Amino acid sequence: MSEHEVIGPSDASGNPGTAQVSSTPFVYIAAIFAALGGLLFGYDTGVISGALLFIRKTFSLSTTEQEFVVSVVLLGAIAGALTGGGFADRIGRRRTLIVTSVIFVAGAIVCAAAVSVGMLILGRAIVGLGIGLASTAVPLYISEVSPAHTRGWQVSLFQFAITVGILLAYVVDYAFAASEAWRWMLGLAFIPGVLLGGGMLVLPETPRWLAKHQNLDNAREVLRKIRGAGDVEAELEEIKTTLATSEERGRWSDLGMPAVRSALVIGIGLAIFQQITGINTVIYYAPTIIQKTGISSNSGAILATAGIGLVNVIMTIVSMWFIDRIGRRPLLLTGIGGMIVSLGVLGLAFRISLQAGALAPIAVITLMAYVAFFAISLGPIFWLLIAEIYPLKIRGLAEGTASASNWAANFLVSLTFLTLVELLGPSWTFWLYGLLSVAAWIFSYRLVPETKGRTLEEIERSWHKPSRTRLT
Ligand code: BGC
Repeated sequence: MSEHEVIGPSDASGNPGTAQVSSTPFVYIAAIFAALGGLLFGYDTGVISGALLFIRKTFSLSTTEQEFVVSVVLLGAIAGALTGGGFADRIGRRRTLIVTSVIFVAGAIVCAAAVSVGMLILGRAIVGLGIGLASTAVPLYISEVSPAHTRGWQVSLFQFAITVGILLAYVVDYAFAASEAWRWMLGLAFIPGVLLGGGMLVLPETPRWLAKHQNLDNAREVLRKIRGAGDVEAELEEIKTTLATSEERGRWSDLGMPAVRSALVIGIGLAIFQQITGINTVIYYAPTIIQKTGISSNSGAILATAGIGLVNVIMTIVSMWFIDRIGRRPLLLTGIGGMIVSLGVLGLAFRISLQAGALAPIAVITLMAYVAFFAISLGPIFWLLIAEIYPLKIRGLAEGTASASNWAANFLVSLTFLTLVELLGPSWTFWLYGLLSVAAWIFSYRLVPETKGRTLEEIERSWHKPSRTRLT
């Protein structure tokens, strides 16, 4: 097996990093399997828009029932994220992912076999639970097995998989549309569900969770497997020292401790900003928005939607290329800056097109630019940071809190978007998201620390330093 070895980076105070970092291909395989949880997240949230057209017919659904079939996934995800963190801390990251895969598979079967709207809603709630669990446990798992110098792009595999899942959902919806086969659309999630579980059965627990549970021999063994012949003792020592000096006891009340509070505010803040800056109005309602710009044909709207999905995937790869090179902060601030400008122009395009009726292409290009800027910034970096910034003893709980806040904000935005467009019109709705993006930029500029190249233990220690030294 080939290996590359890198000396640990300096910490914030300029001391050389303690851990010798090297890695084997095994760690990439582990990350890729875990990222299947992201694929299910993207697929299951994306697939419903197309499937709904036919489900509506099969069960003669009322508007309220339709809304419920769509949004119950988000409610399930809130519950899954809230419980997932505690689970991941108690039973382990790996076992939580195995449970997650069973839930995904069960959800896919119940949805595909639904004989009533009640059964369908139950299936969608189960799927939501799986998504919530995955959104907490996957970033956590990848972050804890990755070496510091590649952790950024490896955890971003999760976001990459989400975007591929969304694109796949658009394609599957399109492929099955002629035969109106909504059961296949929902049931196909079965396949990545099985792969996730199968992969996790043979992959190891993270060395950090093992060390936290005093299982040092196994922690050492896993480190050897994922780091190769490099000096795993230094990394293990660093984990042990950090555990020995941390004050948390692994309870909910720890979230209020001074060294945890700042990280908690950053995680929850980014969670909310990731959603209230409007990304899912585009992801969930793209065809509706596009038709408002004047493209009236269904196939034109679908094609433009697929284009947006593709931009989302490609720009996530671009972000993964830069994230360990130039760091999280520059990408985050540039991306949110781009979102602000795109939303400004989008609002303007709607205003002008309403009067002149000829600006549909500008609106579509601006929508793509907005998604592209999200894909290099708030998309991957939110999920990455919440897997990096919390102390090991309460990492699952704290991350679950941020993840649940993300789902709650998602629920709120999805529920209010169409009403907002009715009340304010599309221009002011997008300008409102633009203003909220300005707030997101200021929040990130002032509070979000740079975590590039630092070990999780160095990041943990940095919360005990004065806040002004944490940013870079
Ligand atoms: C967000 C999702 C969103 C997706 C779009 C994720 O980071 O959490 O809500 O649908 O990105 O790519």
